[in-house]
Amino acid sequence: TSDARAGDVGEPPSVFAHRGASAQAPENTLAAIDAAAALGVDRVENDVQRTEDGELVVIHDDSLRRTTDVKEVFPGRAPWKVKDFTAAEIARLDAGSWFAPRFAGVRVPTLKQYMRRVEHNGQNLLLEIKNPELYPGIEQQILKLLGNEGWLDQPHLDGRLIVQSFSADSIRIVHDLKPGVSTAFLGTPPVADLSGYAAFTDGINPSYASISTCYVSAAHGFTGPHGRPLAVFAWTVDDAATALRVADYGVDGVISNKPDVVRAALREQ
Ligand code: G3P
Ligand code: CA
Repeated sequence: TSDARAGDVGEPPSVFAHRGASAQAPENTLAAIDAAAALGVDRVENDVQRTEDGELVVIHDDSLRRTTDVKEVFPGRAPWKVKDFTAAEIARLDAGSWFAPRFAGVRVPTLKQYMRRVEHNGQNLLLEIKNPELYPGIEQQILKLLGNEGWLDQPHLDGRLIVQSFSADSIRIVHDLKPGVSTAFLGTPPVADLSGYAAFTDGINPSYASISTCYVSAAHGFTGPHGRPLAVFAWTVDDAATALRVADYGVDGVISNKPDVVRAALREQ
């Protein structure tokens, strides 16, 4: 189940389930990674943040408002920031009903719960450190949990785990603390800056709208810390035409809310 390596000519890009299979189940929940497993998608993307009492949890927004019933359960606590709630408070919230009634009672997972389900499902992980500026020391904390869960052994380092962030500082910290971990920077740095990024990141994960064949080949021309060409995973691609376009650019992976749609398009080309 390894992803196509950067520069593999003729290989269709790998397809990743963005926040899990988030068109089929509530994003960043265990239901969403189970849905991705049912589709046969072998890498899931998530977003990791931290509670007021220091628990790592999987949720995208810095507020609980959009994806839980926090407004009803804790009406006086606006703006309902993740960092202002304890893990026990967050565990009471319904993170499924907003998506569809049949997901009522689905919870915001802790990262530990999430890792155990990913492992149980045999999936690979693209773990995003979200808003690290709000959570000093979160990189070390995430690495400690990954180590405790067995995700820093060689088989996991060899393809199971990639850590990404919009924060170059955060990715650099991960690389310095555990050089064996594969990392990716979220964004589209100027080509002139890519050699600097290649000192601490194995990949560049850009918005699909920001790239071209020229940019992808330029990225492939740099070698990351593990001796491979920088990989390029484009987000967030949910339709066949865009998937085919970015595949033509030469990207190594596509991050999608609709991985089944995108994978079918890429296989048929
Ligand atoms: O993995 C790429 C994508 O997740 C980055 O954007 O806002 O969905 O975390 P966002
Ligand atoms: Ca993300």
